[in-house]
Amino acid sequence: MTSFVTPPPPQTNDVSRREVLQGAVGAGALGYGGMGAPFSALADEQKSQASTPMTRYIGTATSRVDGRDKVTGAAKYAGEFKVPNLAYASIVSSTIAKGRIVSIDFSEAMKVGGVIAVLTHKNRPAMADNDKAYKDDVAPDEGSPFRPLYDDKIMFDGQPIAIVLADEWETARFAASLVRVEYRKEAHVTDLERARKDAFALEAPAKPRGDARAFAAAAVRHEGEYFVPIEHHNPMELYASTVTWDGDGKLTVYDKTQGVQNVQRYVCGIFDLKSDNVRVISPFVGGAFGSGLRPQYQVVLASLSALALKRAVRVVLTRQQMYSLGYRPAMIQRIELGAKANGTLDAITHDATTVTSQYEDFHRHETTWSALLYKSDTAKYTHKLARLDLPTSCDMRGPSATTGVYALEAAMDELAVALKLDPLELRLRCYSDRDQITGLPFSSKNLRECYRQGAEAFGWNKRNPEPRAMRDGGDLVGWGMATGVWEALQVPITVRVALTANGHAQVSCATSDIGTGTYTIMAQVAADMLGLPLESIDIKLGDSTLPQSPVEGGSWIAASVSNGIVTTCDAVREQLLGFAKKMPNSPLAGATLKDVVLADGKIVSTKDANRAVSIADAMRHGGMDRIEQEKATTFKNDGKHAQNTHSAIFAEVKVDEQIGVIRVTRIVSAVAAGRILNAKTAHSQVMGGVVWGMGVALHEETLIDHNFGRVMNANIAEYHVPVNADVHDIKVIFVDEQDDIVNPMGIKGLGEIGIVGVPAAIANAIYHATGKRVRDLPITLDKLRR
Ligand code: MOS
Repeated sequence: MTSFVTPPPPQTNDVSRREVLQGAVGAGALGYGGMGAPFSALADEQKSQASTPMTRYIGTATSRVDGRDKVTGAAKYAGEFKVPNLAYASIVSSTIAKGRIVSIDFSEAMKVGGVIAVLTHKNRPAMADNDKAYKDDVAPDEGSPFRPLYDDKIMFDGQPIAIVLADEWETARFAASLVRVEYRKEAHVTDLERARKDAFALEAPAKPRGDARAFAAAAVRHEGEYFVPIEHHNPMELYASTVTWDGDGKLTVYDKTQGVQNVQRYVCGIFDLKSDNVRVISPFVGGAFGSGLRPQYQVVLASLSALALKRAVRVVLTRQQMYSLGYRPAMIQRIELGAKANGTLDAITHDATTVTSQYEDFHRHETTWSALLYKSDTAKYTHKLARLDLPTSCDMRGPSATTGVYALEAAMDELAVALKLDPLELRLRCYSDRDQITGLPFSSKNLRECYRQGAEAFGWNKRNPEPRAMRDGGDLVGWGMATGVWEALQVPITVRVALTANGHAQVSCATSDIGTGTYTIMAQVAADMLGLPLESIDIKLGDSTLPQSPVEGGSWIAASVSNGIVTTCDAVREQLLGFAKKMPNSPLAGATLKDVVLADGKIVSTKDANRAVSIADAMRHGGMDRIEQEKATTFKNDGKHAQNTHSAIFAEVKVDEQIGVIRVTRIVSAVAAGRILNAKTAHSQVMGGVVWGMGVALHEETLIDHNFGRVMNANIAEYHVPVNADVHDIKVIFVDEQDDIVNPMGIKGLGEIGIVGVPAAIANAIYHATGKRVRDLPITLDKLRR
């Protein structure tokens, strides 16, 4: 058997193969920006009067407060709520990718015993016009969201075109198989390579800077094209909605979503329902990762069916139907890097072409990350969008950064090879203390320490720079590294706190907990701010009737809701102090809000711990046995600082030289993300991100048969994700990073940074092991053999 590995190709500096794409340029949008007005208009600064809370819980490795409910099954998910008189649904999906429905014959389905109704675009209840109703908080500006059963138009294979309702789910599913659909087909395109030439330019997030000729003039150049395939969301929990008909046009919607109030506005908009008449509930989410930022079609189908039948309806997608929702867009990215012989960058070019549907212009800014991360006087960016006959692409963990940083960091590794420079040393020579887009310094950036601590934990200084030089028996060993970067975002949020004299507090907010640990960090922050034991805090979330929250996404909820809790707890403390000061001979007479904290059931002076009043006494004196405060918190970017999280990833792979099997045997991820609220859930977040990064590098790929425009591997047997056997040693390091600017609590969020950089670190390790550079993800063994 011959070795699959070819020797490293000679480094070429061929830079003239393709024209530079001329895209429109614009200022200042961030990679994850453009999520609509609620998130960009950050008006008033949070004015926290918090004195430093006693951090008894914040920062500790506190186990999930909802952990027991989750593992015992007490936690209820959208498809599990027991409701009376429930009808079950099965969705009929289109078998063509583009065209019109000529007819739908469901007469045979109706003959099946137990079938209640079949709804199609012809006989459904009224819906608002596509262009008129509320889009949703995460919808792109251009286009209108997909609506199931809206009209006869087919826009993608697997599109829901009818819903069969029955007394039992099995009955509905069988009857759905009897529905006959006649189509008028039109030609479709689902292949990015074919659609690429028709892609149109988007406004780029960053202005070009410097002299466009710098790349050609650079001493050492690298140019490469990097491909990322479509990846589909595969959370454990299937998309599900249970909707009860509460009479009089009232609905209760149990939905799998990252934003209950977003879904509530969306459903009200489509069916023209009063906002008081729709309540959306989502206390637990079995994984979402961006798939639940936008309302999905099952919630429309379930609501529509409940309105039609005037009874409760449950819609649960099949795993196969999960592949007819949004996906991480396929993309082609071209990177040019030009450097001086000493390893400083002269020029960066990043051109991205990503995909969306025919009906919405969804995109994020892949090129942003190249634009901000490394010092280079000269840089230019273009972004094009290609329309395919598929559903609209959507956010998936670290949207735009997982993919954009992959291309940048794989290219940086190639540049390091061309420079004969250690890849970590190259990053240090290009290090920037300022956001290269705006020129602003960072509120904090401890990436240097990530590099240092990560390298030390990994043993990077023992790396032999030659590819194919390190071995372990029959395996080639490769070590690679990459940088990760994400935004530290915050969004306006409202929190209510109700404190009772018996020392119990209820903290409520309409945010979600998409599995990130939001219940737990909310309880930790509230316990410390109120001076109560963790067990005395009751968290209410995931209900649209609770105080305002945006969708949980973008890694912004931990910072937002924690600071929101601080604001509201300040108001509680102020009220308590007011009562305490009015007590006769009050030991807190003259104290201001800043002088006191709540600790151990008391209002205590920070200057003299002997000056204290018990909370119960203060409330009794104030004539209250329960006090309630509800406060909105907004955040202001001072306009003088960039706010980002960073990481350094070090990866070891072992590649079987005969067969080409790749194992990721070690990963070290060193993360700088401000204050860490919970060492345990934070570790889990980053570890989960690393595992997914392995999937991006090695496993995940949606395969489409372009003749039919249909996903061929719409199941988790043939769509590969990492499993336990793929996961070996993952070490997560949190680097200290105090940040007094980003927000009063100094929190930056961790939901996404864990995945960013991981695909490149693994790809770079595979090159180091084998001497073979594979730029197309996922890196499968057949590509190593080519
Ligand atoms: Mo995240 S991709 O904003 O859920």
